[in-house]
Amino acid sequence: MSPRAARKHGTHKNPTTTQKRKNRTPKSSGKRQSMPMSLSKGSGAIRAIQTVGTIVGRLMGTGGGQKSNVFSILENEHRKLEKLFSEFEKADTKRRSGIAHEALTTLEIHTAVEEEIVYPAINRTIKDEGMIDEAREEHHVVKFLIHELHKMSPGSKAYAPKFKVLGELVQHHAKEEEREMFPEAESHGIDSQSLAKQVIARQARLEQKYGKRTKAA
Ligand SMILES: [Fe+2]
Ligand SMILES: [Fe+2]
Repeated sequence: MSPRAARKHGTHKNPTTTQKRKNRTPKSSGKRQSMPMSLSKGSGAIRAIQTVGTIVGRLMGTGGGQKSNVFSILENEHRKLEKLFSEFEKADTKRRSGIAHEALTTLEIHTAVEEEIVYPAINRTIKDEGMIDEAREEHHVVKFLIHELHKMSPGSKAYAPKFKVLGELVQHHAKEEEREMFPEAESHGIDSQSLAKQVIARQARLEQKYGKRTKAA
């Protein structure tokens, strides 16, 4: 069985590049800085600091101060999404709306940067259109469900099962990217650091756009 087929069937024994990257994850000091009184929650100043913090965090990637890697950024987002979908299940109706909004916005930005920047670069590197076409088709279904969920109330009876199906689809899709697509691209020498810079810049612009949409809603 080829390494790619073995990865697809979950029988691949060697640690993936994902796991190797994760071994370099820095430990947090665990210390929290107290917040000045003038920087109240939700203020423009605190939002600006949070944005800078997010960008610096992404530039650091999970490489413990090493240069960022686009696949670490995307995999961190997969973990964030898993957490949000799981939190939604346990949350009461009041909290569900905020969790769902964050999950859908994160997914919209994540799928956009993959389609605009990451997938074309991977396709140029490994020249496997079948793999990219399958991933794009899965994104298509993800976006269709997001579109439907945007038109529904998170408190409605039909929302939770649809949101759950979206979570399962995203989990399946992320697993294939991490087990198959990303390691394949890395083994073919894709420039993951240059891609990370492009992804971070595009995400910042999309976050502004989605932030404006939220304010207008
Ligand atoms: Fe994807
Ligand atoms: Fe992804």
